[in-house]
Amino acid sequence: FRVPTPVNEPVRSYAPGSPERAELQRVYKELKSKELDVPMYIGGEEVRTGNTHPMLQPHDHQHILGQFHEGDASHVEQAINAALAAREEWSNMAWEHRASIFLKAADLLAGPWRAKLNAATMLGQSKNAYQAEIDSACELVDFLRFNVQYATEIYRMQPESSPGVWNRMEHRPLEGFVFALTPFNFTAIAGNLPTSAAMMGNVVVWKPAYTQIYAAHMIMELLKEAGLPDGVINLIYVDGPVAGDVIFNHADFAGIHFTGSTGVFQSIWKSIGNNIQKYKAYPRIVGETGGKDFILAHRTAEAKPLATAITRGAFEYQGQKCSAASRAYIPNNLWEEVKQYVIEDVQSFKMGPPEDFSNFINAVIDEKSFDKITRYIDNAKNSNEVEVIAGGNYDKSKGYFIEPTVLLSHNPQYVTMCEEIFGPVITIYVYNEDNFEDTLELVSSTSPYGLTGAIFGRDRYAIELATKKLSDSAGNFYINDKPTGAVVGQQPFGGSRASGTNDKAGSMLNLLRWVSARSIKETF
Ligand code: NAD
Ligand code: ALA
Repeated sequence: FRVPTPVNEPVRSYAPGSPERAELQRVYKELKSKELDVPMYIGGEEVRTGNTHPMLQPHDHQHILGQFHEGDASHVEQAINAALAAREEWSNMAWEHRASIFLKAADLLAGPWRAKLNAATMLGQSKNAYQAEIDSACELVDFLRFNVQYATEIYRMQPESSPGVWNRMEHRPLEGFVFALTPFNFTAIAGNLPTSAAMMGNVVVWKPAYTQIYAAHMIMELLKEAGLPDGVINLIYVDGPVAGDVIFNHADFAGIHFTGSTGVFQSIWKSIGNNIQKYKAYPRIVGETGGKDFILAHRTAEAKPLATAITRGAFEYQGQKCSAASRAYIPNNLWEEVKQYVIEDVQSFKMGPPEDFSNFINAVIDEKSFDKITRYIDNAKNSNEVEVIAGGNYDKSKGYFIEPTVLLSHNPQYVTMCEEIFGPVITIYVYNEDNFEDTLELVSSTSPYGLTGAIFGRDRYAIELATKKLSDSAGNFYINDKPTGAVVGQQPFGGSRASGTNDKAGSMLNLLRWVSARSIKETF
């Protein structure tokens, strides 16, 4: 059979006076005025432990959105048992029935659920309406629809046969359960990690970041409405190391679908390695991790689009995208013009809560992030290796607000050129326009990461050289565009080196990690 051909969900503009803006504002207000009581979901049951914690708005941290019920190691056990109990029926369900659930979820999200999940992302993660729309509406809808298409293609992949012999390939789910461990910064990623594994017939234990439980809860409700059977995805709120301790010690642990920081992923990998003899099969380890994403300009680049890429690439969602530009290398012949445009642009950005749709900059996710980011800014202010050329102020009295901050470094190895900050800070290094080749080497060697990067220029030899020399420095490489905003089905996403296992979310490559293939030869 054929599944509906996926098409990227059109992005709505939420223009002033539009019906979609009015609807989003209405739902936002309605959610903001409630206090939700958020249970875990284990085996289809709502589990309330009574050990509740508040869900806060990053831009107004005294305003509580609700309380979630935290579990402990016993709930992790229960979630694993519920997943394993659901496994036989789910893994044997005919593909078209599994696919229908996810296609229905996509339709619900593109339609009646759209405003709710967008508003939840705006409130809980402090995204502006546009950033919420491209994430929790469009990207998640795209993941669901395109993954159904990729899964269908995987099931169709069959070997050659010959007279007297029929060769077949089965793409079976993994033996055991999959652990989906998701980050705070993208609602679409939180939705994609458990559903992509489940789509291939796997059962899942899903633990979201504590700062993203508000939207995770909505995704689970959406999946239930779409008809996801009980126990296929079990959503738990348990401290990461506590959950990891139970899961990585379990014989039926079959794989981890992780997105988050490099340090956490490396510690998880070690735990899995230490337990390797306990498992029935070698677990699949899929991780998309940190980045130190770059923009490099050649002397032939145009200043205005380059400056726009710097400010958009660095400051959309307060620089809390794994793909966000956080270091830039600009040739001296362009610098004065680029600098002027960058400063003008940054000064035009309005900052405040997302309910005012004209605010481009909202708050960073929590106090821990705020303190970490502002430490980098303070250190920069006190250093003679670097200058603050825009922004640099911050205030956490009501919400975790940090101005978009541009640093000019005289040292290409200064700490903010090398480490992931994960906030609204970009550091620029101005190089001599004659040293383009040396600068390529600098871009590659300065950071251990390899997630996203961009080259700007009009000289095709320079673009070709950069594309070759930076092949391991960016799993997603952009020519004359900002390094954020990969679209499912168009730019499969993921990095290498310390940025991840590069299994490309939103592509067949990712879904192949969630099947165990069996070759069958039958001789007549
Ligand atoms: P994080 O690593 O702090 O948390 C990710 C998840 O792991 C959360 O659910 C968290 O609770 C859990 N966790 C934390 N410590 C744990 C431990 N010791 N054991 C088990 N689980 C643990 O990441 P975050 O702050 O939520 O997200 C930001 C990070 O994610 C950044 O580094 C960013 O670059 C990265 N990221 C990468 C991509 C990508 O595609 N490469 C996409 C989004 C985010
Ligand atoms: N799709 C997100 C981006 O590329 C991860 O910014």
